Amino acid sequence: MEVRTVSASLSDRHTHFMEFDAIAPYRTYRVDRGIHYLLQGLLPFNVFGHLESVYQRKSNGKVEVLEGGCGVGAALEDLKTGVGHLTPNFEVKSDFINVPPWKRLPNGYQPGLVGKIYTTGVTLSPRHVDIASRVKEPFGIDEMVVGPIEQHNFQKEYDFIFDLCGAAFYFPEEVIAVYGRILKRGELGFLRLLAGANEPGYFLTLFYKHNLESVDKNGSPKGQMDFVVQRV
Ligand SMILES: C[S@@+](CC[C@H](N)C(=O)[O-])C[C@H]1O[C@@H](n2cnc3c(N)ncnc32)[C@H](O)[C@@H]1O
Repeated sequence: MEVRTVSASLSDRHTHFMEFDAIAPYRTYRVDRGIHYLLQGLLPFNVFGHLESVYQRKSNGKVEVLEGGCGVGAALEDLKTGVGHLTPNFEVKSDFINVPPWKRLPNGYQPGLVGKIYTTGVTLSPRHVDIASRVKEPFGIDEMVVGPIEQHNFQKEYDFIFDLCGAAFYFPEEVIAVYGRILKRGELGFLRLLAGANEPGYFLTLFYKHNLESVDKNGSPKGQMDFVVQRV
């Protein structure tokens, strides 16, 4: 795994969230959630199918996936390993939550995208890198960036951006601006944001300002915090 550290001074808010990261007992704050938790029962977005189609469309190698606020990177790991038992709506059934990927049954198994995606995770906490780097190759995160994402000097653009109660959840104004810059034109992002705490339309306005458009055409009956956005 390549590790890059953002050279930036941390604000009090960053330090505050890092303190949360440090004490996260995995059962309350949840910095270790895999795809199971993150997609369950909310917007039925088939992230595996989407990334597979981007891979087929691309003629020049792996799909560049970024997760802003990745915690220990369990969701990125799941994308590579695959998961058990997706429902027709692409929700993941809860009875498999605690089953490690290598023990899941073949029936209903969603194969992973290892070899097809290059994953970059961003977190504030160096401790997350220590934990994420224990994952065996080839399933680990390829690159981790440690520090405030809004101050990182990105050297490339991404084919897909994930943010699941991550950086944009806590720093929407700053981080959505970053995503508007580094998501490739026409490509999608899946964001779980703190929508209920803001005025209606707050995020749609913010997306518009930063060249992103909400493309959640199927609606999001249970997950009004979830947005699929496209870079226009
Ligand atoms: C609640 S955890 C969520 C982790 C993971 N997405 C999950 O749902 O399990 C929030 C994550 O966002 C990171 N984070 C928050 N603000 C950030 C920022 N400005 N830049 C980079 N990472 C940030 C935290 O360090 C942590 O990794």
